[in-house]
Amino acid sequence: MTSTDRALIDAAIDASRRAYAPYSNYFVGAALRASDGTVYQGCNIENASYPVTICAERVALVKAVSEGVREFDAIAVVTHNGGSPCGMCRQMLFEFAPNLRLIIADFEGKVYYDLRLSEMLMHGFGPSKLEH
Ligand code: THU
Repeated sequence: MTSTDRALIDAAIDASRRAYAPYSNYFVGAALRASDGTVYQGCNIENASYPVTICAERVALVKAVSEGVREFDAIAVVTHNGGSPCGMCRQMLFEFAPNLRLIIADFEGKVYYDLRLSEMLMHGFGPSKLEH
């Protein structure tokens, strides 16, 4: 784990402080590092209409993609207990970066998993399956 990786975890912890999670009280922060080194932060944003909620990982991803960035190296995701990305977030990240490095940590910076997205979403469905 390099100092750049540690900085990514710190950026995710920082983002978690902006989480809007009044219903679950489960605060999530994400920091997605693009191939050019730019870091996009995200936090979960809940809604009184519960399914409208968006996860921290997808907030970070849509911020990047909507700015024209589509190549990523790593994402750090932090919660109080080392929760891993939900299936919807895994799928959305897989679209752009099946080999993305996932660093799952807690608010103290303790790392629970440090692996590739393709290991968390085995045999994932991606854009190549729609080529014809
Ligand atoms: N959550 C995330 O932000 N990322 C995940 O991958 C798992 C779940 C959020 C959604 C909701 O605000 C809260 O955690 C509880 O599910």
